Amino acid sequence: MTAVGQTTRAPEPVPLRIGGVRAGPGRTVVLRRDRWWMQPAATAAGLLAFVAYSTWAAFRNGNYYAGGVGRDYLSPFYSPCLTHNCHGYVWGPITGSWWEVSPALLILIFPLGFRLTCYYYRKAYYRSFWLAPPTCGIADAGSTNPGGPRARYTGETRFPLVLQNLHRYFFYVAVLFAGILTWDAIAAFRFADGVGVAVGTLVLTVNAVLIWAYTLGCHACRHLCGGNQRALSQAPVRRWFWRNVSGRLNPHHQLFAWLSLFWIGFTDFYIWLVATGTVHDPRIF
Ligand code: FES
Repeated sequence: MTAVGQTTRAPEPVPLRIGGVRAGPGRTVVLRRDRWWMQPAATAAGLLAFVAYSTWAAFRNGNYYAGGVGRDYLSPFYSPCLTHNCHGYVWGPITGSWWEVSPALLILIFPLGFRLTCYYYRKAYYRSFWLAPPTCGIADAGSTNPGGPRARYTGETRFPLVLQNLHRYFFYVAVLFAGILTWDAIAAFRFADGVGVAVGTLVLTVNAVLIWAYTLGCHACRHLCGGNQRALSQAPVRRWFWRNVSGRLNPHHQLFAWLSLFWIGFTDFYIWLVATGTVHDPRIF
């Protein structure tokens, strides 16, 4: 009970300790009075919208290549096209004739693994879907103790979350994919009568630029550029890369994560419109 003249004080913060009690306020304490739920709600809506669209795009298994209307556009959801049942240019079938389902299902495993293990996306879905916690100053949804935080906290040290450490390896695959999408953007300058530019060319070019901006802003890329080096001053080339990746791309990693996610969906959608003849893809020159 609070005595007359005494003020109610927020409980002392619980220090973070792996394997111990999870830090944070209890469920009975609400430290924030703003609309804190807006950001996790908007994040969840954005991610769900992309999952819905990409599921449709991956399973539609058609109209992902605009070759039939005189364009050399391949959807990023189907690139590199690796199965015998690909339309458009095939990078070399690796599956044999038994692969009868959509080629996208084989390809999307890698970009999906890269994004799912990305430091930014982890924060996004831990907060917006698992509410663990939904944001700063709000109780963790997993807290079983109404007066305090979650009784046990293992971070990402146990299965399955320990698999998040695979992110650094997904990075190498992501660089390969960024190179392939760059090739696709270059191919989009190719027309039956020579080199040219149409709206779709610009769409695919922006897609490649955003993919590079997101991929090179990765924390694993920062480590690759500047890690394991006692004095960066003795490695001027690595220092140049580290400074640019750290100073120009990494601070905007969240922004590029969203822009590239949106644009990759839009690129697929635009190619679908062109391939189905819904849009005539105006030629600029
Ligand atoms: S941290 Fe986001 S892509 Fe690596």
